Amino acid sequence: MKSEKLSVALINPQGHVRWNNPPIAGHPDTGGQIVYILELAKELARLGCRVDIFTRYFDDPEWPGYTEHIEEYPGDSRLRIIRIKCGPERFLEKEALWPHLREYTDGVKEFYSKEGGLPDIMSSHYADAGVSAAMLKEETGLLFTHTGHSLGGKKMDNLNITRQNFELINRKFRFHMRIASERVAFRNSSAIPASTEEEVREQYGHRVYSGAIDNPEKFRIIPPGISPAQFYAFHRQESDRKVYDEVAARLEGELKKNISPERLSLPSV
Ligand code: F6P
Repeated sequence: MKSEKLSVALINPQGHVRWNNPPIAGHPDTGGQIVYILELAKELARLGCRVDIFTRYFDDPEWPGYTEHIEEYPGDSRLRIIRIKCGPERFLEKEALWPHLREYTDGVKEFYSKEGGLPDIMSSHYADAGVSAAMLKEETGLLFTHTGHSLGGKKMDNLNITRQNFELINRKFRFHMRIASERVAFRNSSAIPASTEEEVREQYGHRVYSGAIDNPEKFRIIPPGISPAQFYAFHRQESDRKVYDEVAARLEGELKKNISPERLSLPSV
C-alpha cells in the first residue's frame, strides 16, 4: 500500500524539462540526464514520495512549452515540475547558467516559503545543480545527494586540455566554474550515487578533484538498469526478428544457469 513518505526536491536547472515529449537529443543539454531525472521522479512517486523537479523557466520562441510555473504530472499532483525564473527570458545553455544560480536558489527558497514548508531532502544533478544544492544546504540545513552525470575532469581530458589551450577552450566550457562547483558538491553532499566502481575510481578519482572527496563512504554504487519498454530491438524485417528471438533465447538460457533463483524472473539487459 502506498503511504506518503519523503518529500524530495530534485535540483536540475539545465536542459528542457517537461513531462510531455521533451526534445531528447534535440539539444546537447537535453539527453540522458533529463530522461534520468524524469524517470527518477516518477519512480520515487510510485514509491509514495512527493517529488518536485526544480528547473529553469524560459520563454523562448525557439523552444515553446516551458512557461508554466508549476506543471503537475497528469493525474498526480504529488509529482511536479517547478520552473524558476533566473537570468534572461530565453533558453540558456548549461555553460551560461553559472551567473544565474544565486537567483535560481533564491527562487527555490521563495517557492518553499510560499508553500509553507521545506522538503525532507534534495537530490542534485550535474555540477550546476550540485553547487546550487550546497548553497541551499548552507541556508536551510537541508541535506542532499549529488549525482554527477558527466564530470568536468573527464571532459577536459576528452578535449585534450593543456596549459597552452586552456584559456581558449575555457571561454566556451567554463571549466573553472564547473570543477569548483563539482568540488563543492562532492564535499557538501551526504551521498554520491555512481554507476560502477570504475566510475568512482577513474572519474571521481581524477586529479582535479584531489582532496574534494572527504569521505569515500559517500559513494553508493547503483548499476544502471534499462527499461525494456523504452529500449527494444528494432526489426527491419521479419527474418531479423527470428534471428533476434533465437539469440535472445540462447542468451537467456546461458544467463539463467548462473543466476540466483530470486533473480530468475528479472528481464535481461
Ligand atoms: O543530457 C545531455 C547530457 O548527456 C547530460 O547527460 C549531461 O548533463 C551532458 O549532456 C554532458 O555534459 P558535458 O558534455 O558538459 O560533460
